[in-house]
Formats: sequence, structure tokens, C-alpha cells
Amino acid sequence: MRFENRVALVTGGSRGIGLATSRLLAREGARVGLFARNVETGRRAAESIPGAIFLAGDVRRAEDCRRAVRQILERWGRLDILVNCAGIIYRNRTVEETSEEEWDATFETNVKGAFLMSKYALPALRACRGNIVNVASYVGLVGFAGASAYAASKAALINLTRSMALDHAREGIRVNAVCPGSVDTDMIHTAWEQFGDVERARRLWEEKHPLGRIATPEEVAQAILFLASDEASFITGAALPVDGGITAA
Ligand SMILES: NC(=O)c1ccc[n+]([C@@H]2O[C@H](COP(=O)([O-])OP(=O)(O)OC[C@H]3O[C@@H](n4cnc5c(N)ncnc54)[C@H](OP(=O)(O)O)[C@@H]3O)[C@@H](O)[C@H]2O)c1
Repeated sequence: MRFENRVALVTGGSRGIGLATSRLLAREGARVGLFARNVETGRRAAESIPGAIFLAGDVRRAEDCRRAVRQILERWGRLDILVNCAGIIYRNRTVEETSEEEWDATFETNVKGAFLMSKYALPALRACRGNIVNVASYVGLVGFAGASAYAASKAALINLTRSMALDHAREGIRVNAVCPGSVDTDMIHTAWEQFGDVERARRLWEEKHPLGRIATPEEVAQAILFLASDEASFITGAALPVDGGITAA
């Protein structure tokens, strides 16, 4: 068990990639705190995972992030792994069509959220030479039509990852990111519904990936677990594509 005696905090842990990550971490021995806003979904998710707890909060709020780290330390006395997975997207908008509120919400969730949670988790991570994995996106590595705010926020998250990796390397804290292609979660199903014809949208999304399909949440979670594990002990500042080959083109 790769994560025996380790403690992890996963933002966005109640659904999708964050939930799959929490499940796999727990299966490999970790005690996991799932952080998200919706209390009902979050509690249900935590109850389905042995040794997990739900931490209610919003990554955009400093006090919520501080409280979540405190709750983890009160409960388990340590924090080894932070996975910043909470994220949102507004699609089908050029910059002209993006409202200032949508831009701010995107950056506050996808970038400031990771900044805040990292800021308050770092003292605990330092104490056990822990590590951070940020969930970015392949669209942080290349341009992406129709979601400029999202793509810009993921590029910012990738460079936050690299810069934090440099700042904290000598403390033994590693900071990495995964850059998923399309993943079978609520986020992508919403995109297909917005497209109109769900089956056609699914086929189009699948064809976009050289591997000819989209990822399962577990496939992305496995990459997150690898980066969070001792097997990745010499990897820091990396932005690992988990994208079925999209960015290879
Ligand atoms: N699905 C994809 O195709 C894909 C591809 C590349 C990258 N990603 C990235 O992967 C991450 C997870 O995506 P997903 O597809 O698993 O999304 P999802 O199914 O929509 O789940 C999002 C999770 O984030 C939480 N969340 C959202 N805003 C939050 C906030 N302000 N504070 C705390 N928690 C918040 C949600 O819970 P509440 O709503 O209850 O707060 C939920 O647990 C995101 O960062 C996303 O950008 C996804």
C-alpha cells in the first residue's frame, strides 16, 4: 500500500476526478479529506470511502481553506498530500462573450483556490516533506477555442506549479500538475448537453483524442497518485499530459 500512514486533502473530492482520486488514495491506505461546497454530495461521497471525511468549503474563501487544513490536523495530526482538483469552466464564449463575473469566478476557483489551499497547507506539508498535485488541463498547454478564461486559468495553474516547485524544492516539498484531456465526468456531460446532440458530441470529443476515446476519471487519478507517491520522488515542477495524445500533435 503506497499511502499507508499518509493523509491527503483533495479539493473537488466529491465528484469526478477528485472522487476517483480520493477512492484510489484510500484504497492504497491513505486517510482522505474530501473538500467541496455541496454538503449532501460531499457527505455521500465521503461515506462511500473507508476512512474518509467530508470538509465543507469553497476554495475561493481563505477561511474555508484554513479551516479544512485545521480539521485535517485536528483529526489526523499530519498532512502529506494536497490535490488541488476543484475547478469550473464556462464554455462556448469568446473573450467578448465572457462576462467579468465569469472570468473572475474561473480564476478565483481554478487559480486562487489552488493558491489559497496551498498557502495554508504548506506548513503541514513541510513538516512531513509532503507534496502537491494540481489538476490543470491539456488546454493549459495549448490554445483552446471557446473557453479562453478556462484555458488561461489552467496555464496560470501550470506556471504556479512550476514556480512553487522551485520555491519549495529545498524543503523537500514536490509540486506537480496533471494535464488531462477530456474525462468522463459531470463537467464533460454538461458540455455535451450544451452541444445539443449528446451522442454526436461524444463521438466528436472521442475523435479529438489520438487514442480515439476520452479518459475515465480513474485513469487521471492513477497519474495523480503516481505523482503524489514516492515513486515520483525525483519529479517536481512537471506538467504531465494525461490526454490520450492530444498535445503530441
Ligand atoms: N472533465 C474533464 O474533461 C477535465 C479535463 C481536464 C481538466 N479537468 C479538471 O479536473 C478538475 C476536476 O474536474 P471534473 O471533471 O472532475 O469536474 P466535476 O465533475 O465538475 O467536479 C468538480 C468538483 O469540484 C468541486 N468544486 C467546484 N467549485 C468549487 C469551489 N469553489 N470550492 C470547492 N469545491 C469546488 C465540485 O463540488 P461542489 O460543486 O460541491 O463544490 C466537484 O467536487 C477540474 O479542475 C477540471 O478543470 C477536467
